[in-house]
Amino acid sequence: MRISVFGCGYLGAVHAACMAKLGHEVVGIDVLEEHIAMLEAGRPPFHEPGLPELLKEALSSGRLHFTTDASAAADATVHFICVGTPQKKHENAADLSYVRSAVGSLLPSLKPGDVVVGKSTVPVGTAEELQERVHEAQSGAELIWNPEFLREGFAVKDTLTPDRFVYGAEPTEQGRAAMAVLDEVYAKALSTGTPKIEADLATAQLVKVAANSFLATKISFINAMAELCEATGADVTLLADSIGHDARIGRKFLNAGLGFGGGCLPKDIRAFMARAGELGVADALTFLREVDSVNMRRRVRMVDLAREVCGGSIVGRTIAVLGAAFKPDSDDIRDSPALSVAAQMQLQGAHVTVTDPKAIDNAKKKWPDLVFVDGVEDAVAGAEAVLLLTEWPEYLALDPEELRQHVAAPVIVDGRNALDPVVWRAAGWTYRALGRP
Ligand code: UGA
Repeated sequence: MRISVFGCGYLGAVHAACMAKLGHEVVGIDVLEEHIAMLEAGRPPFHEPGLPELLKEALSSGRLHFTTDASAAADATVHFICVGTPQKKHENAADLSYVRSAVGSLLPSLKPGDVVVGKSTVPVGTAEELQERVHEAQSGAELIWNPEFLREGFAVKDTLTPDRFVYGAEPTEQGRAAMAVLDEVYAKALSTGTPKIEADLATAQLVKVAANSFLATKISFINAMAELCEATGADVTLLADSIGHDARIGRKFLNAGLGFGGGCLPKDIRAFMARAGELGVADALTFLREVDSVNMRRRVRMVDLAREVCGGSIVGRTIAVLGAAFKPDSDDIRDSPALSVAAQMQLQGAHVTVTDPKAIDNAKKKWPDLVFVDGVEDAVAGAEAVLLLTEWPEYLALDPEELRQHVAAPVIVDGRNALDPVVWRAAGWTYRALGRP
């Protein structure tokens, strides 16, 4: 099939490359010239495992191209909208300007039989507004909604073999025909039995924010338990293991620690609350305000813990931070809990040195006042406390005996409950963590 993908960020670039891998003819379109030039040269403008190889393969097959020219979509029949919907400045609501502008630039290219597929995370009601524009343009095209559930770090796998497909369409012949076209696009994954749910537009839009809200709630639940553990001397990791064995609860997304960040969970729960307010059902989502508060409190608690291990004050103390990305296997620093803690400690007078395997360049742009170094050894040199704030595998593999040789004081604070306290204590370290004695 001939496919255009509007937006070549984390979602769109991966989607475009994966669609080409499936055998489709794909053009990726974005307004950022620099990113398009990099993608066209086979270099992703962000870190995503497996993407460079996939891009190279797809580009050399001749089935994948990138351009800033929106009219290139005229050759395609299926058009994916993959642009970002960040949080608005000074507001909880989502900024829909990129989605509206992408659809606006696509309208002149639409023709009868074309299908516009919304993948961006949007407030419920957005698809209906965009559908109206598609219909008003008398193009004969139809819009459907097909939310994306990919996780950064696993984006290629999640796109090629998703755990489910959700389609949302109007209950008309055109809507059904559009869903059938999407079946052709995803024929390979569907043929292996991937579950598919056909729904209305509103449900399909809600599914995405509901899923992210549930995940955020699960993380904040365990972090609230961590607060209880801190007050009672209990161990939140044992608690999570224990309740996680109940199949109704499950152990996934019950890792207590510094909480969630990134370009999705935080802004999605806020945009969801804002939308519920507009719909007159704000009460239904007031619990998400608490989810947000528990999450943000973890960052404050981490700075307090750093102060505690430094003997009551961090002023003038040398602190090493391992991790800047919002999670491992990503160079994304949007709303990164690690950077938020590092910056807060710096503002409160500590000398903070941050390292990360992939995110330093991005982090430097956002927090130019922080000191960034490349390797762990340099980061911890002379440190009076080491804070593990993003659980990169290389940090989990650190040898505590060896690391001890480089620090001024062997004190480690595990912000992700990812290290083995027994091993670190046996190597002479003072080990502290959130929600653990
Ligand atoms: C999230 C969802 O997991 C995806 O399903 C969704 O498609 C995506 O948002 C999106 O909306 O596009 P992502 O932002 O890549 O994916 O990251 P997650 O793996 O969900 O992690 C989010 C944050 O939660 C990270 O900061 C992570 O460190 C934290 N986390 C995760 C915890 O603190 N504890 C856990 O147990 C799990």
